[in-house]
Amino acid sequence: MIRKPLIIANWKMKVPRSRVDYVLRALALGIKHYRKELEDYSFVACPSFESIDHAVTSIRKLRAPISVGAQDCFWETSGAYTGEVSPLTLEELGCTYCIVGHSERRTLVGETDAQVNKKVRCLLTKTSLTPIVCIGENRAERSAGKTRSVLKRQLNHAFKQVTVRRTVVIAYEPMWAISTSRGSKPMTARECRGAYEFIHEQCQRMGISRAHRTVLYGGSVSHDTIRPFVAKGVSDGALIGSASTDIVEFNALLRMLAKP
Ligand code: PGA
Repeated sequence: MIRKPLIIANWKMKVPRSRVDYVLRALALGIKHYRKELEDYSFVACPSFESIDHAVTSIRKLRAPISVGAQDCFWETSGAYTGEVSPLTLEELGCTYCIVGHSERRTLVGETDAQVNKKVRCLLTKTSLTPIVCIGENRAERSAGKTRSVLKRQLNHAFKQVTVRRTVVIAYEPMWAISTSRGSKPMTARECRGAYEFIHEQCQRMGISRAHRTVLYGGSVSHDTIRPFVAKGVSDGALIGSASTDIVEFNALLRMLAKP
């Protein structure tokens, strides 16, 4: 099966509204420059909520082949939920993807497996947004040999009572490998292979067919590390945080993807 590798830029809270045009223009220019080599790739930018409308307008003006995703959403589409963001509003704004269960939300604001499940269910049943479900073990779980049980638990919860009939994206993001500029070592494509195969096995067991699942890697992906993940078919693409907000670095990453 021919699958388009998916490159998702998770801007986190690092690109203020005033810089959205600048970052998108650089990304669009990079994609245009390597358009032949990158024609098989799909690109998604995930700005923070307050910049989504601006990003959508900017991409339309640039006529760039970039989709827009949100970094989170609430699990209801409307009601008395002060401060929350409806996935229907995200859709209205022009998003086509939505990240769910990112490790920063799980650890910093205590998002639970049950909440991730409610969000996945809402996205799949009440919207046309494609969920990007983040899973991954932390350092202690990895050291204790619990990687597989953590991945299994997170997948089982995320897709509980869900029948997947359209594409879902699953991002394997080992927590210890995220933002490793803070000191630890990123994961290599070779280290990732076992977990990646395990995720595919579990998805198959849960009835998420290969045609409906895109499984990505995320965690300190840079121009130095991207190629083995996509070139050797380890992963269907990558979820890129910090490197996607640095236009020089992201251009170098596109150059690496474009290499024969
Ligand atoms: P990173 O972030 O590339 O900065 O490690 C990835 C992510 O958190 O999605």
